[in-house]
Amino acid sequence: MRISVIGCGYLGAVHAACMAHLGHEVVGVDVNAGKIESLSAGLAPFFEPDMPALLAEGLDSSRLTFTTDMAITATCNVHFIAVGTPQKKGENGADLRFVEAALEDLLRYLKPGDIVVGKSTVPVGTAERLSAMIRTNMPDATLIWNPEFLREGFAVADTLNPDRLVYGTRTGSETAVEILDGIYGAALERGTPRILTDFATAELVKVAANAFLATKISFINAMAEVCEASGADVSQLADAIGYDPRIGRKFLNAGLGFGGGCLPKDIRAFMARAGELGADQALTFLREVDSINMRRRARTIDLAREVCGGTLLGKRIAVLGLAFKPNSDDVRDSPALSVAAQLQLQGASVVASDPKAVANSAKRFPELEFTETVIEAVKRADAVMVLTEWQEYIDLSPSELRGLVASPNIVDGRNCLDPTKWRAEGWIYRALGRP
Ligand code: UGA
Repeated sequence: MRISVIGCGYLGAVHAACMAHLGHEVVGVDVNAGKIESLSAGLAPFFEPDMPALLAEGLDSSRLTFTTDMAITATCNVHFIAVGTPQKKGENGADLRFVEAALEDLLRYLKPGDIVVGKSTVPVGTAERLSAMIRTNMPDATLIWNPEFLREGFAVADTLNPDRLVYGTRTGSETAVEILDGIYGAALERGTPRILTDFATAELVKVAANAFLATKISFINAMAEVCEASGADVSQLADAIGYDPRIGRKFLNAGLGFGGGCLPKDIRAFMARAGELGADQALTFLREVDSINMRRRARTIDLAREVCGGTLLGKRIAVLGLAFKPNSDDVRDSPALSVAAQLQLQGASVVASDPKAVANSAKRFPELEFTETVIEAVKRADAVMVLTEWQEYIDLSPSELRGLVASPNIVDGRNCLDPTKWRAEGWIYRALGRP
């Protein structure tokens, strides 16, 4: 099988490299020449552990190539669509322009027997429409909707060892399903569950999963608000309820809340789509999930103001962590970066650091001061804020930092530090949902 992967962003680039690793011949296609140049040189345009090795392996073996020329898809039989579906500007809905443009371009080169595999996250009903477009142009080509569940930071492992595979199909797609089974043969042989369903269910699986994860995080953050009001400790609460296997401890870390390129925009697009379908009431709770999430950012800024004696004006604040989560350089809708920018707007002078996300943050908020090292960030600070739980911040020495700051105030935005350790060294420790 010769495979094309259209769209070489996070999802597409990782998918292409992983498919080549599995032994397939793969060409990645993207309209962005810079991205293609970088990938062709073996450089991933984002930080993802394992990607450099996988890219090098694919390029060296010649099984993996990249191009901006869609005509190359004429030499492939299976085409994965992995372009982005960002939030529309000023609206909650998903912007499908890139998916539509990619398919329209691909249609020019489709041949009888070709399979188009949709991986982008789309509003329910999209696959049916795209399938009709394909049938009009090339009746012998088949669409399968195959959502992707990879997490940034674990993208390679999640692609090679998925929890489950979901295929959304129309009737009469048996041959295409067999071919896709062949592509995912290694995972299927290991017993990976495969759910064969219709288009609408496959599309919904993806957004329902992300909506559930967002809800779980906002649930514990709502509990954090109640803990703040009552003097309880949300971390212990999460541990205690998490022992119930029906609840589970994963995704119950209270703190600054969720961000990134997926969860926030996916729950909004889901609400917008439900509204179009006349099922808006079913998802009104997601509006609350979104609000709880946003309130955590405001609360973190309040904590900074409190430890600074009631005003942020003229205070020097060290922000440790800018990425939306550790092991990532992604700052799309990052709660940490959003708090850093707000602190600055409210009169503080922010010095921000992150092991991987400084360059991306500087592009979005050039007015912030950035530094690569923790030491430089915390020097003479009136407050230190840990906003992304990188291991190197968890491992910081309270006694070493104590000698560098102007005032020993620490705000733990991710409940990742040990309060006893910090307080023992004379720090004022404040956190979200913890006394
Ligand atoms: C998420 C989903 O986890 C993936 O399954 C999905 O494939 C992906 O979106 C997508 O739609 O493409 P990702 O955006 O990489 O993956 O990030 P997560 O690991 O889910 O974290 C999302 C946010 O939630 C981060 O900001 C993280 O800090 C926050 N979070 C996570 C919490 O605040 N508390 C937790 O307990 C867990």
